[in-house]
Amino acid sequence: MSQTKDPFTSPFGSLFGDFMTIAALDEAGHYAYEGSAKPVENLSLHPGTHVLHYASACFEGLKAHRQVDGSLAIFRVDDHVARMIQSIAKVRMSPPPAELLRQMIVDAVEANASETPAAPGSLYIRPTMIGTLLNIGAAAAPSPTGLLYVICSPVGDYFAGGIRPLSIYVETQIPRTTPQFGMIKSGANYVMALGPTLDAKRDHGADQVLFATGGDVTETGASNFFLCDDHKLVTRKLDESFLHGVTRASVITMARDMGYEVEERAVTVDELREWTTRGEGFLSGTAAVLAPVGQVKIGDETMVFGDGQPGPNTLKLRQALTDIQLGAAPDPYGWRTPVEG
Ligand SMILES: Cc1ncc(COP(=O)(O)O)c(C=O)c1O
Repeated sequence: MSQTKDPFTSPFGSLFGDFMTIAALDEAGHYAYEGSAKPVENLSLHPGTHVLHYASACFEGLKAHRQVDGSLAIFRVDDHVARMIQSIAKVRMSPPPAELLRQMIVDAVEANASETPAAPGSLYIRPTMIGTLLNIGAAAAPSPTGLLYVICSPVGDYFAGGIRPLSIYVETQIPRTTPQFGMIKSGANYVMALGPTLDAKRDHGADQVLFATGGDVTETGASNFFLCDDHKLVTRKLDESFLHGVTRASVITMARDMGYEVEERAVTVDELREWTTRGEGFLSGTAAVLAPVGQVKIGDETMVFGDGQPGPNTLKLRQALTDIQLGAAPDPYGWRTPVEG
């Protein structure tokens, strides 16, 4: 890292590793990767490049963790590769072979390995795809050419202040994104969620917005949402309207093996309101890890989960997840990929 800044005091994602991997996609659908990482350099794009106008882009977010034995491992790399390939296909660009993207991620991590902070920090990995067609008239056409690259960012906690109960505003009018785009990790979704999120911060002091259009609970701007108690977890069933979180899938797998019943189904705002009287709520995501929800605001109504502090089941599940991520527990599901560094 050329910066001397501390990932624990710098904003999440504002520091960068010195190396990247990059491959150009040509019109024949071939990706040219040189086979190793190189120093990060600026991209040179004509102002008429497709991505700058028609948002032909998508990305991923995953992490490499410094293990308790000092080695380094990437968490669920194949699942993130699969989701990125799906996103690329859904923005109608030609996806790379999974093996190529996986290798580009491993190479980028190994090149930046020395910059991985110790837990609870990690090396956040950002594979990115952009459409490079030079045509400002191609609003209704995909970009046959593109750039696929992987950059890395040494990070501390996503939510400043470590594990603390979050305040969530429930937005029942404005959707996070359009239904057909919800499961794509596309920048367009995030800019759409920005307005309601900033308004909820300003007007309600909320950390995050839980999007529940018409009372149908989906996810927040950057994480999935769970309700739980001592016996059960409830989260929205997969459909195209929201991002299929890798952390969500991990929590469900672990929770079932820990003896919880897991229900994947529709959750209404009325049910959420009812759970605050007897259960816990938490967010899940690569950046958020498992973040306890302390209170929810629906309109002018404020409801507190339990005593407003992180719940025991949330903390137990979080610990189980981070133990696997950090190599402090066995890896029965094959989620860790060891890399050099
Ligand atoms: C909109 C949205 N939902 C959910 C998630 C959680 O997904 P994952 O657990 O794969 O990080 C993220 C973060 O990546 C996200 O941006």
